Amino acid sequence: MYPKLIVDIEKIKSNAKNVIEKCHSKNVEVAGVTKVMCGMKEIAEAMIESNCDMIADARIQNIIKMNKEGINHPFLLLRIPMISELKKVVEYVDITLISEMQTIEKLSEIAKEKQKEQKIIFMIDLGDLREGEWYTEALDKIGEIINIENINLIGIGSNLGCFGGVLPTKEKMQMLSDIKKQIKEKYDYDIKYLSGGSTAALPLVENNELSEGLNHYRLGESIMCGTDVTNNRIVPGAYQDAVVLEAEIIEIKEKPSIPEGKIGLDAFGRKPHFEDKGWRKKCILAIGEQDINPGGLIPFDEKIQVLHASSDHTIIDITDCDINYKIGDILKFKLSYSSLLKSTTSEYVEKEIINKK
Ligand SMILES: Cc1ncc(COP(=O)(O)O)c(C=O)c1O
Repeated sequence: MYPKLIVDIEKIKSNAKNVIEKCHSKNVEVAGVTKVMCGMKEIAEAMIESNCDMIADARIQNIIKMNKEGINHPFLLLRIPMISELKKVVEYVDITLISEMQTIEKLSEIAKEKQKEQKIIFMIDLGDLREGEWYTEALDKIGEIINIENINLIGIGSNLGCFGGVLPTKEKMQMLSDIKKQIKEKYDYDIKYLSGGSTAALPLVENNELSEGLNHYRLGESIMCGTDVTNNRIVPGAYQDAVVLEAEIIEIKEKPSIPEGKIGLDAFGRKPHFEDKGWRKKCILAIGEQDINPGGLIPFDEKIQVLHASSDHTIIDITDCDINYKIGDILKFKLSYSSLLKSTTSEYVEKEIINKK
């Protein structure tokens, strides 16, 4: 059945080894991020075989699923937890990224009941404006956290390049290193992990620009897509087609390039833009916004132009193609991270694993 995602485990292993070896050579541990693949067991296994130090996912459901499917590796919860999921966190998660005192106190209470110690990495906002205590306030909060029972503060971390697109430069990472030093000076407390990096911070490893003590990266996009969207680049030595999307042509017709009639908004309330190129040969693919983000489809046939999509239909222009496409033909696409996320999440997209030894 189409649409279908073809997941090439050998290529994923190669991508994972590529970045993990680079990080390990600089004493940086790696959490392999499985969230874009909805915690697919085969992906976690590929990352573990490639020597990742832990498996990270944003959704507790994915961590529980992987645990039940036999993945026996330390689990890191990437999204700061909801109070309502803390019981599950204590049961299934080894290390939790966290930023709220109220949540830490509740986590402590549950961990105490279960006679467990819960490891946490306290998140600090260095300017990207997503999760974390604002960096000027972090030191005081950490002073409180280190005294909370059954909570083991093993690291401080930050997330950049996600909400505000702020680049993880050496200077930004130095802010984490400085806070670690202040924690030692003020509280005589040693922090094991400085968890600064996602894919966007890989250039620091590649260019030998790590700030002092930065020793933990959380990597997803570079392994799954072989790209680094924040820096607008391809990760050196990585495959971009470790996961490929196949979609089927359901209509081919010559049509004008601009719509006819009075124009309102499209099915999603957007105002589409059209360039008048005269009559063009266009295809409809049986896939839509429910399964992909059309802007993130990268056709193998470079002469295809992806135009637009509604929920279930994606319109492409094949006028310039050398291949004479027919109804029922299957087209292949590489995917951006955001498109991959949608297609793994969509139950209408079949998933096929290849090259699994
Ligand atoms: C907190 C956090 N760290 C790391 C990552 C991984 O980022 P990337 O896929 O860019 O490597 C994500 C997103 O998946 C995240 O939310």
